[in-house]
Amino acid sequence: MYIVKTVKEAKEITRKWAAEGLSIGLVPTMGYLHEGHLSLIKESAKDNDKTCVSIFVNPIQFGKNEDFGSYPRDIEYDTALCEKSGADLVFCPAAEEMYPDGFCSHIEISGPAEGLCGARRPGHFNGVCTVVMKLFNIINPSRAYFGRKDAQQLAVICQMVKDYNMDVKIIGMPIVREADGLAKSSRNTYLSSEERKAALCLSRALRTVKSLFDSGERNPDILKQTAKKIIKDELLSRIDYIEIVDIITMKPINEIKSDALCALAVYIGRTRLIDNIALEVKS
Ligand code: PAJ
Repeated sequence: MYIVKTVKEAKEITRKWAAEGLSIGLVPTMGYLHEGHLSLIKESAKDNDKTCVSIFVNPIQFGKNEDFGSYPRDIEYDTALCEKSGADLVFCPAAEEMYPDGFCSHIEISGPAEGLCGARRPGHFNGVCTVVMKLFNIINPSRAYFGRKDAQQLAVICQMVKDYNMDVKIIGMPIVREADGLAKSSRNTYLSSEERKAALCLSRALRTVKSLFDSGERNPDILKQTAKKIIKDELLSRIDYIEIVDIITMKPINEIKSDALCALAVYIGRTRLIDNIALEVKS
């Protein structure tokens, strides 16, 4: 497995693969890998001749008071996991390699990026799209893999790829959870043992919403109130948002007539966690 830090090396290797007619899968990550990330890498290794994983904590997608500085990092452990999971190349550039002096472009995206995390984290999705566009240009993948854990991010990337007529195929992958229901996340490492227990209110609320929905409830207000109550009952929690949105536009809806998503962001202590569940309307 190649481990490369420069754009030049990453381009050379991937362009050589492309010239040989090999298909390339890309899994963009910020590292501190867990089973959620590995599920994307394994899927890519199944679908493609070559799989690239990028590991880069992207400074421009973090707000001023967010956790860029404290975001967990362990590049040696991560590269070992990548190799085990079937990756052929890990691209782990320094910030100066991605954003050298004089860098002055960025993608600006609205639409699906406007609500939910986009409203709470101004500029976040512009930063995500800018780095993902760069990664797509560097690796030139046939397919790129994103988790539904970040459902809004997935919708935003799909919008960008459509708007810019990009050739890459975006593959959305299911949320990987701990045995007790907590969605796997690199940020779970911030939780104390008491907070770890409290964090179960997110998945508990979403499961309850889904079972109400499955029993026929289609009123988003009732579904949201149900989730709100479950989360508020947990003392260590503070709700950032709970929304029912259309699964593609990410806009709030008044009645669930087509596939929707119940998405939430909740602080447990000082840690902000996100989770969601699909509410699929069977035709
Ligand atoms: P990161 O949070 O490291 O996530 C990398 C990818 O792993 C994303 O597509 C995310 O949705 C997926 N993922 C994370 N937890 C998951 C889980 N429990 N189940 C399934 N998939 C999961 O998302 C980012 O990094 C960044 O914003 C990035 C796209 C790399 C741009 O910087």
